Amino acid sequence: MAIDEDAARLGALRTEGVAAIAAAADRVLLDETKLRFLGRKGPLAAIVGTLGRRDPEERKELGRLANETRSALESAVAERAAELEAGDAERRARAERLDVTLPGRRSPLGRLHPITQVIDEIVDVFVGLGFKVADGPEVESDYYAFEALNMPQDHPARSAWDTLYLEPNDYGQPLLRPHTSPVWVRVMEENPPPAYFTMPGRAFRRDVADPTHLAGFHQIDGLAVDKGISFADLKGVVEVFAKALFGSDQRIRMIPHFFPFTEPSAEVHVSCFNCNGKGCRVCGDEGWIEIMGAGMVHPNVFKAVGYEPDVTGFAFGMGIERIAMLRWAIGDIRWLYEDDLRFLEGF
Ligand code: DAH
Repeated sequence: MAIDEDAARLGALRTEGVAAIAAAADRVLLDETKLRFLGRKGPLAAIVGTLGRRDPEERKELGRLANETRSALESAVAERAAELEAGDAERRARAERLDVTLPGRRSPLGRLHPITQVIDEIVDVFVGLGFKVADGPEVESDYYAFEALNMPQDHPARSAWDTLYLEPNDYGQPLLRPHTSPVWVRVMEENPPPAYFTMPGRAFRRDVADPTHLAGFHQIDGLAVDKGISFADLKGVVEVFAKALFGSDQRIRMIPHFFPFTEPSAEVHVSCFNCNGKGCRVCGDEGWIEIMGAGMVHPNVFKAVGYEPDVTGFAFGMGIERIAMLRWAIGDIRWLYEDDLRFLEGF
């Protein structure tokens, strides 16, 4: 056998094998390539298999070459395996990399509901004038809602408040308060005069929903009791309020009205901020818009809470949804409670 030929074959095998191993694209291909060159049925094994039949000189020489070829191929495999491993690690690292410079997804920021905004604004005006804030229960007793407000049992004035009554219990007739005026009675029971309070909260009436009515809505009342309080004080406070909310050019007027718990009583109108009094759709061609009920606290209310007759006081109360609707030209009260973000995001 010609040793030169076999030596050349081993040389070629080494070159070809090392190149193929280095080019193996992944672990599986590397294993296949290794098997192809170094396997028991591969070309190297074939040449080694002939060694036993050679004379000692040739065997020695060819054996050395074969060993060199084997170790060259084996180290090529080891090197390529290490490369692939490193590549895997890098690829994994790249796939798992967190880009901390990516801008985050913003969650939408909430805001105060328009009704809450109006309550805050109105309360701010009265707090600025020295009033304290108070609240009372939404489920009220007949006594606070009517009786102490100068509307005895069976008084026809009660029917002006379309009240939702609950099941009577051992303590009497609970109801959903149809206005926030019962809170006057509660604060006067708790506080000796002078008493200056503003009382926002929910109220309920037996109303079918339409563009200006809902069975649940909000009101805010004000109460000022002191020595020497007059109707002029009421007018001054109401005017400051109207200008703060609707603009400093606005005027007010007070029209005689009836409420059982105030005497005299009035309806307060503000000049139409849309047409400035000329008459338009907003004010129904009146030039004026009704914004609240008001009056001088009836002596019977003072009697009910145990105030001496040496004090006088004024009170007023208004619907908050109505104020918000006027303020922002909202056409339907129900829009305030549909939770439609397209509407609410406008405020
Ligand atoms: N509570 C009355 C209502 O709901 C409005 C009102 C409040 C009238 C306060 C007043 C008053 O005279 O002082 O209709």
